[in-house]
Amino acid sequence: MLQMGYNIARCMVNAMRTSLSFSLLILAALSSTAHAGADPAKLQTGAALFQNLCAACHGPKGQGNEQLKTPSIAGEPAWYVQIQLGNFRAGRRGGNPAEPQAMVMSAITKNLTPAHLEALALHIEKLERMHPPMPTALRDADVAMGKELFEVRCMECHRFNASGEMTFGSPPLLGLQDWYLVAQIEKFKTGRRGAFVGDPNGAKMVLSSQFIEDEHAKRSVIAYILTLNSAPADVERVFEASSK
Ligand code: HEC
Ligand code: HEC
Repeated sequence: MLQMGYNIARCMVNAMRTSLSFSLLILAALSSTAHAGADPAKLQTGAALFQNLCAACHGPKGQGNEQLKTPSIAGEPAWYVQIQLGNFRAGRRGGNPAEPQAMVMSAITKNLTPAHLEALALHIEKLERMHPPMPTALRDADVAMGKELFEVRCMECHRFNASGEMTFGSPPLLGLQDWYLVAQIEKFKTGRRGAFVGDPNGAKMVLSSQFIEDEHAKRSVIAYILTLNSAPADVERVFEASSK
């Protein structure tokens, strides 16, 4: 915990030293382009903002970093990123001192304008989605049970293959690391995410996460979600392994 706190603090400091002060200058210079409207300009602005303000923690390709507890956000749809950045900015995510990771994000987004958030979201969507590996710790999970739970309790909103559904506000669950999925499900279950006024999408998850009844169910559904990242041949292998 101490180590994690230290890492986040160090990352914050690094991000601030190497990026924030410098970037505030850039922000001023860029804000005219951010408002310009043309997509190529927005993308360029988004890329510059990302490298300066986000890459220190999320990685230059948006691949995430387990030590810093940053999710791999590469390829997340722009609509979802924008909603989350708005949630962080308003403190619906990160408004609680028990949430050090989300608080960091909340602080960062408070310095950004809606035009910056839009430009960042467009850039993140263009980054290539990661293929997180099945961690050794989940190799013995009950993937078949996870599949069943997913089909009954999650698929309605997150859709077939967990590809997400914009009209429901439910994001793809692909590309996300196992430990991040665990952490978010815990946050929803305990109302540390999704239980704030003005977060109707989060509220859906506070409810839905209650159907993940115990540790076994959580491990199983997460293991199943991770198989959806694999090439079809790999999915077969994972199922074979889990049914032995
Ligand atoms: C100091 C480290 C740090 C920096 C810098 C940082 N983030 Fe984050 N970010 C995090 C952490 C930690 C989380 C996980 C929060 C949680 O667990 O709720 C996160 C979560 C997110 C999420 C939520 C993803 C999801 O799937 O819901 C998005 C989107 C995001 N960050 C975008 C950005 C953008 C854009 C920037 C740059 C403007 C940025 N972050 C800068 C640490 C950082
Ligand atoms: C009623 C619709 C609905 C159902 C059913 C549902 N979800 Fe969600 N889920 C959502 C919405 C909407 C969000 C976005 C929440 C937000 O904006 O913070 C979400 C977000 C998530 C996230 C956070 C992703 C991220 O990038 O931070 C995870 C993990 C997740 N859902 C897993 C599940 C699992 C596992 C199930 C089945 C047990 C499930 N969901 C069932 C609607 C649903």
